[in-house]
Amino acid sequence: MNFELSAKKITQIKADFEVVFIQDKNLKNFSKAKDLFKINDYKGEGACLDLANKILYIELKSLEYEDIRMACFNIYKTLSKLNIKSIKIPSILGKCVVMSFSSLVQGFKFGVYEFNKYKSEKKISSLEKIIISYEEINGKEFDKKEAQIGINMGEILANATNFTKDIVNEIPQIYTPLKMAEDALSLAKENKDITCKVYDEKFLSKEKMNAFLAVNKASIHPPRLIHLSYKPKNAKQKVVFVGKGLTYDSGGLSLKPADYMLTMKADKSGAAAAMGIIKAVAELKLDIEVHSVLGATENMIGGDAYKPDDVLISREGVSIEVRNTDAEGRLVLADCLSFAQDLKPDLLIDMATLTGACVVGLGEFTSAIMGNNEDLQNDFYQTSKKSGEYTTVLHFNPHLRELIKSNIADVSNTASSRYGGAITAGLFLDKFIRKEYKDKWLHLDIAGPAYLEKSWGYNAFGASGAGVRMCIAYLLKLSSKVMK
Ligand code: BES
Ligand code: ZN
Ligand code: ZN
Repeated sequence: MNFELSAKKITQIKADFEVVFIQDKNLKNFSKAKDLFKINDYKGEGACLDLANKILYIELKSLEYEDIRMACFNIYKTLSKLNIKSIKIPSILGKCVVMSFSSLVQGFKFGVYEFNKYKSEKKISSLEKIIISYEEINGKEFDKKEAQIGINMGEILANATNFTKDIVNEIPQIYTPLKMAEDALSLAKENKDITCKVYDEKFLSKEKMNAFLAVNKASIHPPRLIHLSYKPKNAKQKVVFVGKGLTYDSGGLSLKPADYMLTMKADKSGAAAAMGIIKAVAELKLDIEVHSVLGATENMIGGDAYKPDDVLISREGVSIEVRNTDAEGRLVLADCLSFAQDLKPDLLIDMATLTGACVVGLGEFTSAIMGNNEDLQNDFYQTSKKSGEYTTVLHFNPHLRELIKSNIADVSNTASSRYGGAITAGLFLDKFIRKEYKDKWLHLDIAGPAYLEKSWGYNAFGASGAGVRMCIAYLLKLSSKVMK
């Protein structure tokens, strides 16, 4: 799909269809369409098609970025069913030109996304070209350069998000840790600014990553530690992402009930997001050094499986009592966070589909932000809001910390109470964060929005690419690129 800026007035642009935005459900200015609206009982909500005049009326709830994304998604969903190649639309200008155009592009590109690899019949749309008239908006002139930057940014963000979705949606018999390593290596091959190192089980043993290795024990697929890096010259800061890459989580010997096991191919969402982020960062050529450390393994059952009652000595030297093998993500992350801290980050962010408790507490739309630094958490929260992702801060407290104490080891992998499960998982991870990184670390539990069993907003069924846009928004902020 192509996005083209045109200086012409919308009436002078040639295209197969025209889009007209309806703001505030205000139909007064469209006297020509009065009869059409009446016949269709159209009150300004959603879409109204005028096939005779080749015009689509579409609701634009407000100039907030999320409403811009939604309006453009709705345009695509309505017009992709018709046999047309090009459309012309007026510009939509919210607070910031770059963000407005970026949101517009995202709306269209999320409309296009569908994981249809395994369907014999694939829907193919003929819509190729979106021409955006920028003659003026509400009598205001704006910078064409900024609009073009916004279009490019929107394409990069949407491509990275859709790239992450493809990884998460891929089925578990194909998507093994080796496949994840292969994808990471191809990402580095396609982008000369990204390098990739893949470490096997021998390396993990040598590094004493026993918690990570324990989770992998009963799997026929060997584990991989994947390290992607992007190191621009004159980088101002170093940000390290760590992603939970459970290519399948059966629960292990503490086996999941059948209904809960379904969708656990999506337990690799954190790692997939970390891949999408570094891809976007390299394409945006940000002046920040970025690393993505991915812990890829399956959690399976078998005679060789790790067990409840096992005690594991992690890479950080912290001993862990295993009380539930389904709390495996935190074990993999513990060792990956240890590896990540050796990279000496200025900011360390882990992303994981870590707990069902987070989904119960926050619902399916919202990710949790945790950590020890309230200013950092609040700052991240404020920025994430504009990205189109929902987040909230969950605070640690000393009483919850008590619940992960173990009688025979330094920490238990499961809290003694079900209540507060998202936070106790975060507190478990905190055990592996060294003093000097306590204030530089954020934990994002993306278990809710990472995989949708029912589509919502502009997100299709399946993976949503959770984590990608909010983290890039934060990196853009750090690099002082626009994000108003
Ligand atoms: N991968 C799951 C968490 C999850 C659940 C993600 C639902 C997405 C949707 C994780 O490994 C897990 O099973 N966690 C357990 C922890 C418990 C045993 C302490 C959970 O949340 O039940
Ligand atoms: Zn689990
Ligand atoms: Zn898991």
